[in-house]
Amino acid sequence: MAKETTSTPVLGLLGAMDDEIRLIRSDLADPRVLPGPCEMVSGRLDGHPVILARSGIGKVNAALAASAMVSAGASAIVFTGVAGAVATGLGIGDVVVGDRFVQHDADGTAFGDPIGQLPGEPRYWVPDPQLRERVQQAAVELSGGGAHAVVCGTIASGDQFIADPAQVTWLRQTFNASAVEMEGAALAQAASHLSVPFAVVRILSDSADGNAVADFPAFLAEASQRDRELAHALVARQ
Ligand code: ADE
Repeated sequence: MAKETTSTPVLGLLGAMDDEIRLIRSDLADPRVLPGPCEMVSGRLDGHPVILARSGIGKVNAALAASAMVSAGASAIVFTGVAGAVATGLGIGDVVVGDRFVQHDADGTAFGDPIGQLPGEPRYWVPDPQLRERVQQAAVELSGGGAHAVVCGTIASGDQFIADPAQVTWLRQTFNASAVEMEGAALAQAASHLSVPFAVVRILSDSADGNAVADFPAFLAEASQRDRELAHALVARQ
C-alpha cells in the first residue's frame, strides 16, 4: 500500500534590512545558507522549519525574494519589519497588520486607471485571512498589555522613503492608509501571482514626517528585538 505523505509547512520569514532579521537568524537551529538573489537561510525556529530571507529594500527586491523563497520551499510568507505611521493616532512603537495593500507609486492615470493601480492588476491586494489573523494574534500577545496599539489597516508601499507630512496626508486621504513602507504591496503582488499565502506586520519606526530620517535609524535596535519576538510567537501558533 502506498505510504501517505503530508508535507510539513515551511514558514517563510522575510525582512528588507539586516536589522529586521538578524536576531531571528541568530536563533535558528541547523542554519543552512540557500542560493538565491538575496540572503536566504533555512533552519528551525523553536523546532519549526523556516526559511528566512533579507530581500534588500524596495518593491523589486521584495518580489524577487518572495519568488526565491517559494522556489526554496516556503509554503507561506510573513514580512516582519518597520514602517512609517500614516493613520492619525498611530505613533512610534505601534503595530500595523496589513489587511489591504496598495502600490502608492503606481500611476496609470493617463489611461484612466485610479492612482495606485497598475494596469491589469487589482488596485488593492488582500492577505491570506488565516495567516493575517495568526499574525495579529501574535502581535496582540506581544503588545505589552496594550502598551503598543495593534491595528489592522491598509499598507501603502512604494520605492520612496516618506518624510513629508503633506505626503502622509495624501496617503491617508487617497488610500485610507495606516502605514507606509517599501515592500509589502510588492510581496502581496508576487505572492498572489505565486498562489502562496502571505501576511505583513509592521512596527512603526517613525511618523513619515520631518523627523523620520532621525527616528527611523534610532528605532532599529528595538525593531530587531520585536521582530524576533514576533517570529517566535508566530511559529508557536503554527
Ligand atoms: N519604512 C519605515 N519608515 C518609512 C517611511 N517613512 N517611508 C517609507 N518606508 C519606511
